Amino acid sequence: MKPKVILTQYYQDEPIAQLRRDFELVIVEGSGKSIAQVVKENPDAQALIPFLSEKIGKDIIDLGKNLKIIANYAVGYNNIDVAYAKERHIWVTNTPDILTPATADIAMALILSVSRRIIESDQFLREGKFNGWGANLMVGKALNGATLGIIGMGRIGLATALRAIGFEMNIVYYSRTRRQDLEQQYHFTYMPFLDLVSASDIVSLHIPSSPQVKHLFNKEVFDLMKKDAIFINVARGDLMDEAYLAEKLEKNELFGAGLDVYELEPKVHEKLLQLKNVVLLPHIGSATDKSRLGMAQMTIDNVKQALAGQTPQNIVAEFKM
Ligand code: GLV
Ligand code: GLV
Repeated sequence: MKPKVILTQYYQDEPIAQLRRDFELVIVEGSGKSIAQVVKENPDAQALIPFLSEKIGKDIIDLGKNLKIIANYAVGYNNIDVAYAKERHIWVTNTPDILTPATADIAMALILSVSRRIIESDQFLREGKFNGWGANLMVGKALNGATLGIIGMGRIGLATALRAIGFEMNIVYYSRTRRQDLEQQYHFTYMPFLDLVSASDIVSLHIPSSPQVKHLFNKEVFDLMKKDAIFINVARGDLMDEAYLAEKLEKNELFGAGLDVYELEPKVHEKLLQLKNVVLLPHIGSATDKSRLGMAQMTIDNVKQALAGQTPQNIVAEFKM
């Protein structure tokens, strides 16, 4: 008998076919049931592959009587109660590296879109308002010579910084771990967090979410930003006080913001929807064909390793301690 694996939503056909070859696959999407119901009805399932938008808490973990692994289809795993999974001896894995270029591209796309008012300009033209070249038409912010403040010099933070070098930006960063190697190699400058916030023309977030950093960008921190600065978040929505950001943008106390993530995803703060100085994306950081196929493959490899009694290749940090 093939071991049973629960996948919460469909990903591409090829990885699904691969899963079906080796496992008895149960897919939640389209079943009309909740994840909890499906896990409860399949207590023999040995693996669960959830998506980042799905909360996998104690309740679901307890229902998975024979779970050996929860293989998250995402690099972030704040949707999973990792401490509890660990207590139950259930591996938790994620999909790092493979989605780094795609996510850094989206950070760069947001930086360009906001600084050069790309979306606003496109809408302007489509509304029939383009009546000729104008010295003051859709003037944005120069990137060359601007200071990009990277918060979190991990894989995605670094990939974003390397892209920004191509745009002739100065890179400053704040990170838990100082990276003197990168400072020497790329002339990055380390700064304490609050200094970075007030010195940067663009602030871009690249840290994982956790209760300790909820609303890292609160009123006090947002108020340290330059009045014509740009705020970019491709990490997680709960790192920022979204309502306060909306208020600041509305009062033009920032040049603009580019967001791929939201506090109450998929809900977006109503005020943001009315503003022209913010670009809003539907959490598409990792959404390239290459990245998504790679992420799916990683979930499958992790599941296979766990069910073969091995330590999976992408266990999350909490399992390395
Ligand atoms: C995307 O947000 C991810 O964590 O994979
Ligand atoms: C964070 O998890 C990263 O990949 O940079």
